[in-house]
Amino acid sequence: MLAHTSRLILLLALTLMASAPVWAVPCPPTVAQQEAWAGIKVNALVRAARAYYEQERAEAAYDRTVEDIARTLRRCGMSGGSSFAARYPEFVGYLQALSVGLLDDHELGFNVSDETYFAETRKYVTIPDFLLTPRFLKTVTRFETLPQAKALLRELNKSRAPDSQLIFFSYESRHLGTPDNNKSFRRLLIVVPGDPAKNVPEKWVQFGLTDPGARVRTRNVSVVAVVRDADQTTNTYFKDYFRTYRRNGAITIKGRWELGEGDDNCVTCHKSGVLPIFPVEGSVSSDELRFVEEVNDRFLTYGPPRFDRYLDASKFGPGLGSVRPLDPLVASARQAHASFPAKEIASATSSACVSCHHPNGLGSLNWPMDKKVISSFVTGGRMPYGAELSRRERIKRYSQLVQDYFSIDDARPGILKSWLLGKSR
Ligand code: HEC
Ligand code: HEC
Repeated sequence: MLAHTSRLILLLALTLMASAPVWAVPCPPTVAQQEAWAGIKVNALVRAARAYYEQERAEAAYDRTVEDIARTLRRCGMSGGSSFAARYPEFVGYLQALSVGLLDDHELGFNVSDETYFAETRKYVTIPDFLLTPRFLKTVTRFETLPQAKALLRELNKSRAPDSQLIFFSYESRHLGTPDNNKSFRRLLIVVPGDPAKNVPEKWVQFGLTDPGARVRTRNVSVVAVVRDADQTTNTYFKDYFRTYRRNGAITIKGRWELGEGDDNCVTCHKSGVLPIFPVEGSVSSDELRFVEEVNDRFLTYGPPRFDRYLDASKFGPGLGSVRPLDPLVASARQAHASFPAKEIASATSSACVSCHHPNGLGSLNWPMDKKVISSFVTGGRMPYGAELSRRERIKRYSQLVQDYFSIDDARPGILKSWLLGKSR
């Protein structure tokens, strides 16, 4: 009996402890206490984000950190409309944008559910019919039959107008496998020019290809659609599809999300909307190299990337390679040359990515972002654009960029922390 009672008490105590954080932590009542609280939470958030940037297994801890802060903001009346939000608009807006992306039905990270996003954007991201014929689907599956798939595309081009020719090539990705097979790196990319007169967006359709000899066939097909806006910006829409290989040989194709296969937050990598193709060296045949250049040039003609009303990239702040507000180098340069244009100061610092990667350029490289893509463009020799640097310098430059963005040092806070605390205004 006694044992039973003490077990009950223990159970009660454990239950209380488990739920304690929800009600026991008092809200910071005074402005000074809110200030201190914000400082602690910004450090926790930036530290958790950096850990997750470096290692995927820190994701759960990061999610908990975001949820914990967002919950406190709501519970303590410190979210939108409060005096705290008026003092820390960046912090409050950021937490709102990050926490909505953690909801189970917001896997894409947009501010509407995945269901709503796909329902509303269907008109942009459908795969053109001529890429869905049984003949094409059969040949575009395997690396071995790729020449036949390309022959079919060339055939299609014969009946297409000169300015709506399909641009296509195959390559190997240096960045990632497909969502259904993380070891599948081969791709066929087809850029299907849009028709603004008929409101047909331009589509980048990418088929994952099954490796030579592999038994399990790759399923994924991705679409990024771009719609140029009157204000010179370009809206980007995303969708993944999965192929299903039937026993009778038929190949059907349906949305990955609709098949219950989950989805990804595309924008963590696709900061610039469409991404340029930076393939594994030597993976593109010499007669197709000019098409890689052609699609990358085409990408550069799109205006600054936007994600329609589904994501406001400005809520995520300045990006990697921005100038740190308290950077002594910049401060002294400013002092020495009062008339020195800001842009040149930026390029005088070691990490001038922001002169091109900003909201009205290629989009900011801000958190949440993907390490693979950024490290590859910097250490792989593609960025900073046009810079001749040794491999050693590149590795050093990359780690400096990450440090400058994520530092929580009070004396020299990094880009993210400074911005969250309102010190970049
Ligand atoms: C982990 C980073 C990452 C995520 C997440 C991601 N992509 Fe990509 N994607 C890339 C990279 C990098 C490229 C450029 C080709 C390459 O290097 O593989 C690319 C290329 C593409 C292309 C070819 C056109 C282009 O932009 O170059 C399509 C289409 C595409 N992705 C669709 C999607 C969709 C749809 C999603 C979300 C469901 C998504 N991607 C999520 C990294 C990512
Ligand atoms: C002078 C302009 C310029 C500067 C400076 C610059 N970039 Fe870029 N960046 C570009 C262009 C143009 C592209 C696309 C061209 C391509 O790769 O074909 C690009 C593409 C990228 C991409 C892939 C697309 C994306 O938005 O994710 C990454 C990542 C990137 N740059 C990172 C950086 C980093 C990090 C720095 C600073 C070390 C930097 N860039 C500096 C112009 C620039």
